[in-house]
Amino acid sequence: MTQDATEIKAAIARHHASMVQDLKILATTVMEADGDDRERTRHDLIAYIDAELLPHAQAEESTLYARGGKEAALTTLVASMIREHDVLRSLRNDLAGHPTRTTLMLDTGAFTGLFETHATKENEFLIPGLLAAGVDIGALLGSLREELTGH
Ligand SMILES: [Fe+2]
Ligand SMILES: [Fe+2]
Repeated sequence: MTQDATEIKAAIARHHASMVQDLKILATTVMEADGDDRERTRHDLIAYIDAELLPHAQAEESTLYARGGKEAALTTLVASMIREHDVLRSLRNDLAGHPTRTTLMLDTGAFTGLFETHATKENEFLIPGLLAAGVDIGALLGSLREELTGH
C-alpha cells in the first residue's frame, strides 16, 4: 500500500470513530432525557444526523460506492451498504416524525447500532477491497475528501 493509501485508510477510520463517538453521546442524552429535554435532545440528534451523517453517506455513494459497484468482487457488498444507508435514512425520518417514548428509544438505538456496524464494514471490507482492486482512493474522493476523512 502506498503512503497516501495508508494515510487515507487511517483517516477514514478515524473519522468514522469520531462520528460513532459523537452519535453515541447524542443518543445517550436522548435515552436519558425526560419531558422537554427529550424533545430538545431528539432535535439535537436529528440535526447532527442531517449535518454530518447523511452528507457523509451521500458523499460515499457518489465516490467509494460508485467505484466499488464496478468491481465484481465488491458489487454485493456495495449493494448491501447502500441498503443500510436507506435504512439509516428511514430511521432518521422515523425519529423526525412523532415517535412515542418507546419508538424513540428503539429507533435511536437501532440507528446508533446500525451506523457503528456499517462504519466498521467500510473500514474492514469496503476500503480494503477498493485498495486491493488498485483504486486510488485519494483521487477518487477529490473535493469530497473532507466528508470522508473529516479534514
Ligand atoms: Fe456508508
Ligand atoms: Fe462511512
